[in-house]
Amino acid sequence: MNSVDDKRISLVVGGIKGIGAATSRRLARCGPVFATYLRDEAAATRFQESAGREGLPIRTMQADVSSREGVIALLAEVAKAAGRVDNIVFSAVNAHLCQSLEVSEDAWWKVLETNTAPFLWLGQHMPRVSGQGGRLIALTSPFSRRYVDGYGAVGPSKAALESLVVYLGVDLARYGITVNAASGGLIDTPLMRSLVPENHIGAVARRTPLKRIGTPEDFAGLIAWIASAEASWMTGQIVSLDGGYFLR
Ligand SMILES: NC(=O)c1ccc[n+]([C@@H]2O[C@H](COP(=O)([O-])OP(=O)(O)OC[C@H]3O[C@@H](n4cnc5c(N)ncnc54)[C@H](OP(=O)(O)O)[C@@H]3O)[C@@H](O)[C@H]2O)c1
Repeated sequence: MNSVDDKRISLVVGGIKGIGAATSRRLARCGPVFATYLRDEAAATRFQESAGREGLPIRTMQADVSSREGVIALLAEVAKAAGRVDNIVFSAVNAHLCQSLEVSEDAWWKVLETNTAPFLWLGQHMPRVSGQGGRLIALTSPFSRRYVDGYGAVGPSKAALESLVVYLGVDLARYGITVNAASGGLIDTPLMRSLVPENHIGAVARRTPLKRIGTPEDFAGLIAWIASAEASWMTGQIVSLDGGYFLR
């Protein structure tokens, strides 16, 4: 595969905010990055402008990955612009909060169609566009297998995503593509702050052995390592980063 010093072309789905934005910036040190958003064009413009001022090779793109056709169109557009895609990071999320006993049928499918299904479509189509040593990387949460209030739909969507990491990990190995997930405890993003009360964030920081919640850059560092040549023999894994929170 390419060495880490070679240019790697990355696609970060949900790549203009929070963890996705930090990941786009981090991967831009290794080559061009295509960073997608769904609705927030103003935020995409601000992100594009600040990346430009910093000289980072990041291009923002609007894309809806909630349908198979949307994923195929996105990959075709990136491959047309860059020739291939080496790293795909799937950071998009529908963070709909609800209890499992209350989730509506509509909300259930909407959560799955954003949080889980696109990863399958990305995996199915990645061999057609990937270069040497492809990397398909999901973002997940320890609350895929543990209970937390309000995660009645998002938690199961992340559990299915983690299972796809295993199945795609085996099935994409023949194409030289590894499939892994980075799993994070509480990470300081605007989305997380809009959902979690301040007193709860403080309590998590105090209970964490390393005494703080995570930053998007903590998470982006792990993703960059998974995308690097050093991680070329790792596939099908869920790698956790939580400051030691779940050790006790
Ligand atoms: N923050 C945490 O504590 C934490 C912890 C563990 C794991 N994670 C995971 O890390 C990832 C990023 O989280 P974050 O907090 O940094 O969120 P975020 O990036 O602020 O928001 C998610 C992004 O996904 C995009 N998106 C939503 N639906 C989409 C669709 N159908 N097609 C394309 N893009 C779509 C949104 O675009 P628009 O803004 O344009 O709508 C937004 O840019 C998520 O998978 C999350 O579950 C987060």
